[in-house]
Amino acid sequence: MSKKVFVKTYGCQMNVYDSDRMTDVLKPHGYEVSQSADDADLVILNTCHIREKAAEKVYSEIGRLKLNKQEKAAEGKDTYIAVAGCVAQAEGGEMMKRAPAIDMVLGPQTYHRLPELLKEAEEQRGGGKNHARVLDTDFPAETKFDYLPEEKTFDNAAQFLTVQEGCDKFCAFCVVPYTRGAEYSRPLKAILEEAQRMADAGVVEITLLGQNVNAYHGEKSGGGTASLAELIRELDKIDGIERIRYTTSHPNDMEDDLFNVHGEVAACMPYLHLPVQSGSDNTLKAMNRKHTREEYFAIIERLRASRPDIALSGDFIVGFPGETDEDFEQTLDLVRRVKYAQAYSFKYSPRPGTPASATEDQVPEYVKSQRLQRLQALLNEHQLEFNESKLGTEMDVLLERPGKLEGQLIGRSPYLQSVHVDLTKGGENKLDAGPDNTYNAYMGKLVRVKIVDAGPNSLKGEFVSLLN
Ligand code: 5AD
Ligand code: SF4
Repeated sequence: MSKKVFVKTYGCQMNVYDSDRMTDVLKPHGYEVSQSADDADLVILNTCHIREKAAEKVYSEIGRLKLNKQEKAAEGKDTYIAVAGCVAQAEGGEMMKRAPAIDMVLGPQTYHRLPELLKEAEEQRGGGKNHARVLDTDFPAETKFDYLPEEKTFDNAAQFLTVQEGCDKFCAFCVVPYTRGAEYSRPLKAILEEAQRMADAGVVEITLLGQNVNAYHGEKSGGGTASLAELIRELDKIDGIERIRYTTSHPNDMEDDLFNVHGEVAACMPYLHLPVQSGSDNTLKAMNRKHTREEYFAIIERLRASRPDIALSGDFIVGFPGETDEDFEQTLDLVRRVKYAQAYSFKYSPRPGTPASATEDQVPEYVKSQRLQRLQALLNEHQLEFNESKLGTEMDVLLERPGKLEGQLIGRSPYLQSVHVDLTKGGENKLDAGPDNTYNAYMGKLVRVKIVDAGPNSLKGEFVSLLN
């Protein structure tokens, strides 16, 4: 009889990718994916540790799952709870002590061992025990990528593909080097094979993932290593892959050829997430970012010279220890100069074990809140301006999911904007709605769209023509 697994994913896109891989690993062992925890035999919480309250959120979720586990046990059915991801890596042992309902803890580097861990948990509970105690937060010598089944689920025309993992940068605020470990790049061939399988399954857009993706240096079969620029040029040769993105990049790893790629490879989308975190040289230094604001401006200038319409996105932290009003003004000034199309901003949150968490000059909470509010108001203003600048233009949209309105599908613009496309338009190119009158058959298609409305978070467009 087949069993069911439900994975709840917190945090970044890499966790989304990892969650899919965990279900891939379990599939040959008879596990189907469930959309809800209620009917699942195994619930995995794939956790994130990057900012505040991550562990608390996990504990409250476990509280709910525990009740479910008890109810199922009363009906004579064994269910299992696993905690995976970065909170598991950082606090796994402690979590098991505090929440005995957890059967398994596994870190981001060991999810290929999930079937064995599950077996061990089942054996432990074989004697009628309510809970198992299985913990695996190793950084194993073997890489999980070599142990993943080739059979993967690609249920969307836009897919993530992890090419690099871990980080050696050690920014003073960040847990990633501790939870994900040292930088590792997958070999070029393995990535191209995975991309080819995606293309064969109808995937149109690939987003290359890595904590430090532009530091990618994957081994080549003939010797030497390939850079991210080289990888993108290779991916561009695969039939059917029309769009390539990559995230997240560090300014210091923007190598020369990557700028060229943005100008030369049409499939490389005109959008780049290039976090700067702060606009103040003092804060950048204290954060151990290893570049200045002027160096960042020079990178942006080169990008725009190579691809004039490139949309930029970034991450910002306000209230890093020691950040003064003047430092914060420098961040606002940088934002005004760069004008991001989109951005994420956060209050600094001390992460256990990171250098910045131990410093004494922490910024008071109310100051962080005020700064965040001012920064976000400015970023939102720019985001709306960017969206409005596309009014009346035509652009290509990859249709990915149904919209709320009849005749509408939702997709992404080249600039990663969400576009609600009215497919009932199109004049003589007008599409056939299909027997169910939903246009759902066009999901996975690239369409030309005329933008007719722009809001802070999305655009509205009318269908013009079909592109693929
Ligand atoms: N506090 C606040 N924000 C953080 N980030 C990483 N660590 C912290 C922290 N301790 C933010 C950074 C990073 C993004 C993924 O999360 O801006 O780029
Ligand atoms: Fe964290 Fe990114 Fe800095 Fe690495 S480069 S330590 S992942 S913020």
